Amino acid sequence: MAAAIARDVAILRSTVTAWRAAGARIALVPTMGALHEGHLSLVATAKARADRVILSIFVNPAQFAPSEDFGAYPRSFAQDVAAFTAAGGDLVFAPEIAEVYPAGFATKVSLAGPATAGLEDKFRPDHFAGVATVVAKLLIMAKPDFAVFGEKDYQQLAVIRQMARDLNLEPEIVGAPTVRTEDGLALSSRNVYLTPQERATAPLLHAALEQCRQAIASGVAVDAAVAKAQATLAAAGFAVDYVAARHAETLAPLVSAADGPIRLLVAARLGTTRLVDNIAA
Ligand code: PAF
Repeated sequence: MAAAIARDVAILRSTVTAWRAAGARIALVPTMGALHEGHLSLVATAKARADRVILSIFVNPAQFAPSEDFGAYPRSFAQDVAAFTAAGGDLVFAPEIAEVYPAGFATKVSLAGPATAGLEDKFRPDHFAGVATVVAKLLIMAKPDFAVFGEKDYQQLAVIRQMARDLNLEPEIVGAPTVRTEDGLALSSRNVYLTPQERATAPLLHAALEQCRQAIASGVAVDAAVAKAQATLAAAGFAVDYVAARHAETLAPLVSAADGPIRLLVAARLGTTRLVDNIAA
């Protein structure tokens, strides 16, 4: 049976209330649609721990800067519903913009901590306020037992964990590992923007992080290993926004490997496509 579709909060809530009355454990997988295997692995993580899985599909205007790709962001609703159904999902919550941000909407979650770590926030100043506001709303609207987010957007995951903790939001926040193609490229809805030549270069992003991890493990100073990764990527044609070694939980800068656990994070552009990735070190 195809997954049901809820366009408004009232239907979402009545469905969740009925499931809960029947004793079900409920998971939410928030997405902006354009599903790929990475999203489906989040659904699989959700299914493994829940009786009912909700997928939200909402391209959230509040997290795009005017210069970004809100209008052009890939949208594939019918395929997304089919893929979610095939993955055993139960309900797609796909609200219109006015359902999430009705006329007169005037609230924004204000963030510090990992949201101001000087990584994505430096290049996308209002992004995390938009993400946190919509995620808070989705968690409050759906009231799942837990919600699953990909580690691929590592700073986003840290921001959401911090917000859920600080605001006593009840759903547990579950992180799921990044899914990669065989050549190491992290799956992303934006990979469709890459030209064939850029697509061939893109796996170097992960390779540079891996080399950086190995260098640190073999005793090279963190700063030197990071600088090497940055230079490697620049030489391969990336416009590098940052390569950084940060504390895996706080995202605070590290002086030495002993200050870890370390997370290595990168953001770089190939042509007009901005790619992000990260690994544990
Ligand atoms: O990671 C995403 O797809 C989005 O940032 C999210 C968490 C669905 C919020 O719009």
